[in-house]
Amino acid sequence: MLKRTHTCGELRKSHIDETIILNGWVKKRRDLGNLIFIDLRDRYGVTQVIVDPSNYPEAHNSAKKIGREFVVAVEGKVSSRGEQVNSDMPTGEIELLATKLEILNPSETPPFPLDDEEETDDRRLTYRYLDLRRPHLQKAIQVRHKMALAARNYLDSQGFLEIETPILAKSTPEGARDYLVPSRVHPGKFYALPQSPQLLKQLLMVAGTDKYFQICRCFRDEDLRADRQPEFTQVDLEMSFADQEDIFKITEGFVTASLKAAGIEVEAPFTKITYKDAMEKYGSDKPDLRFDLQLVDISKFVADTDFNAFKSTLESGGIIKAVRVPNGTVLSRKQIDKLGDIARTSEAKGLLTVKYLPESKKQSPLTKFLTEEQWENIDEATCAVEGDILLIIADKFSVAHSALGNVRNELAQMLNLINKEKFSILWVTDFPLFAYDENEQRWTSEHHPFTSPHPDDIHLIESEPGNVRSCSYDLIMNGFETASGSVRIHDSELQKRIFSLLNLSNSEINERFGFFINALKYGAPPHAGLAIGLDRLAMLALNRSSLRDVIAFPKTQKATDLMTEAPTGVDEVQLKELELKIAICEEK
Ligand code: AMO
Repeated sequence: MLKRTHTCGELRKSHIDETIILNGWVKKRRDLGNLIFIDLRDRYGVTQVIVDPSNYPEAHNSAKKIGREFVVAVEGKVSSRGEQVNSDMPTGEIELLATKLEILNPSETPPFPLDDEEETDDRRLTYRYLDLRRPHLQKAIQVRHKMALAARNYLDSQGFLEIETPILAKSTPEGARDYLVPSRVHPGKFYALPQSPQLLKQLLMVAGTDKYFQICRCFRDEDLRADRQPEFTQVDLEMSFADQEDIFKITEGFVTASLKAAGIEVEAPFTKITYKDAMEKYGSDKPDLRFDLQLVDISKFVADTDFNAFKSTLESGGIIKAVRVPNGTVLSRKQIDKLGDIARTSEAKGLLTVKYLPESKKQSPLTKFLTEEQWENIDEATCAVEGDILLIIADKFSVAHSALGNVRNELAQMLNLINKEKFSILWVTDFPLFAYDENEQRWTSEHHPFTSPHPDDIHLIESEPGNVRSCSYDLIMNGFETASGSVRIHDSELQKRIFSLLNLSNSEINERFGFFINALKYGAPPHAGLAIGLDRLAMLALNRSSLRDVIAFPKTQKATDLMTEAPTGVDEVQLKELELKIAICEEK
């Protein structure tokens, strides 16, 4: 075999006149009769090869037989392209005049073109090994590697130890369903694949590890979306004797280093905003700050109006919020209807509009209900002027904010307000500790049950659980939650109080977390931590819209691997060994 001396992305003017060998895949072959042009590709780039029959008939004969994606070796002399320089290609100043060409392996015609940047679809996932040859995926995989390496190096430099935790584990509550693995040795018993190493990393703190990290695989059986895969990677960390600020500092260090490895410069410290402020200003706990559009509370200006929707909302303790859309009068009827639909699917009763027309006129169902003074107050608070639109929602506190938050996000798309050059990164802090689950009629953890309550709110745990803030934080990038963490509970009594509020009986607590509560009794240090979704971080850094573009072998929305066809049935012998029988329940 002609073994390569260089890669297909390497040759420049300085190599002219050298005799070299390239190995790679045939991206394209053009047969011009007298000459054959081949674009030869490998992970590093593409080089143009020319095969001339007059000097090298054997090489030309081989070149005639090759097709797309054949694997070939070419020996030749690097030559200048003269006038024909291709400035779009890093190797565009040179070409390789082939003297020998060896077919290393033929290829069937690939089922789809390999050179566009379209999003990966299901057919491409079936042939993922071909899909991955596409340069933009090659780039994504390489950048992801560099990002992970930068994070690892940074954490190592700060004294963190990378420690592997088991994959065959016991359930960790992160809010999703578990993937279960049956035990052969203990028939009828199951391991759970970790939703995260949460409990184990906390136990490592009890063990005196002090600073732990792991680039780890997590498994969650949940409804999938473009930013959710059933198995994904976290950069997971935990620190003893640390508070929120320590975790912020470390995270800012490794995230900055990791983003830098992807060519993105961000400045630390990152902006911070409390959950309450984020909801009130942006209607979201993951606001995208690449555009402005802030929500304004106009309740107090319309307190004594007869407009029914406002009156009844305020009487029942609700709120009236508005968002000003600069130059919003350009929105069409259809677009405004769409915004109304978004508000309604977000559970709001409706979306009111006020159009600011020329000569200080306003077009709105509200006009006849508000006095001039009330309008003046609203105009001043919202800064609305001619050409703008105000969008208003009157509803319960949570609905008004989240619905207007969703409208805000849609507006950014509609009006093209997102500056793609910008990278928005911020901490959201002080999340509520509990959320009430109407279906199950009980309190649940907003983050996970090991999160410490805010020290000022501990006395409210039993009396006003809904008002207890937590010492937890999320890192938000371009409107996506990329990391989440908290200061943990290190006191076994407090941990028990939290479990009881979550309605777990003593026997349930013991069965699920007995080992953990026990460990907290043996000198657990105060500790805190966080985990960042590496896939999400890479997706955002590369400006891609799906995790599929940054994971080598992703699954579909139905959690299948189209290439291997997993999940598959298992044969009787395996089931017998596990002492299991399959009986699929009809009922769902
Ligand atoms: P959490 O469950 O918020 O916290 O997860 C942390 C981060 O992991 C990423 N992530 C996902 N990425 C892809 N697909 C998924 N299905 C998926 N689910 C989560 C997100 C998210 O911000 N143990 C805690 C962390 C801690 O408290 O230290 C945890 O796992 O980017």
